[in-house]
Amino acid sequence: MSEKGGILEARNICRSLGGTDGEGGHPVLRDISFSVPRGQFVALTGASGSGKSTLLYLLGALDRTSSGEIWLDGVEFGTLDDDERAEFRNEKLGFVFQFHFLLPEFTALENVAIPMMRRGLSRDESEERAYAMLSLLGLEALYAREPGQLSGGEQQRVSIARAIANEPKLILADEPTGNLDSENASQVVQIFRTLAHEHGRTVIMVTHDQHFADLADRRIALKDGQIVSDISAPGASV
Ligand SMILES: Nc1ncnc2c1ncn2[C@@H]1O[C@H](COP(=O)(O)OP(=O)(O)O)[C@@H](O)[C@H]1O
Ligand SMILES: [Mg+2]
Repeated sequence: MSEKGGILEARNICRSLGGTDGEGGHPVLRDISFSVPRGQFVALTGASGSGKSTLLYLLGALDRTSSGEIWLDGVEFGTLDDDERAEFRNEKLGFVFQFHFLLPEFTALENVAIPMMRRGLSRDESEERAYAMLSLLGLEALYAREPGQLSGGEQQRVSIARAIANEPKLILADEPTGNLDSENASQVVQIFRTLAHEHGRTVIMVTHDQHFADLADRRIALKDGQIVSDISAPGASV
């Protein structure tokens, strides 16, 4: 796909919102292009309203561009119909949001196992892998708890375990530390670094916290729907 070998590539993407039937509207993203290699941890920054969430939704195939192309792992999103997009998301993408969206009546283990069962794995196999994911995030002792019996930081770590359960190529996180105290937030950002550097996941994390952005390999800043800077950290591995 890309001559640069990126796993993810945005080519001249534009998105207008607020028009009718995809026509007209206000240009929210303008001519966004970048390529991300496998295993890179990218922070997407910018003021409120600069277009971060809109961009993340496009990268997650949850929304369609007005023009331009998005490639992930050799597939251009525009070529997929709605069913194919849903399958593609399930297979290739992991999402983490500011709110954890865990199912309250299920245990941590079940919350992580359910997406694997939806992909056709047996309950035993799903729960075994879910336990391994929870262990990776230091939550093995809490596997039988329901979300209401977990702290905010623990809930967010369970939601990360759920996001990585299907071994996604790309993890997209929109303000994942927004509801956490600084210690739990640091822990979550550290988990994303580890997932990128030790497990080869590509991670894009929206944050408006400069301190956390500085922990990423690369910082892409948006302003009024355009990339205004794209800086790789000195010594970043990729
Ligand atoms: N459905 C929509 N219709 C019209 N404008 C929208 C819609 N969604 C978002 N916007 C506008 O797009 C801009 C970028 O929004 P967003 O991507 O949510 O920014 P951020 O996540 O950086 O705060 C904002 O000006 C917002 O008002
Ligand atoms: Mg946002």
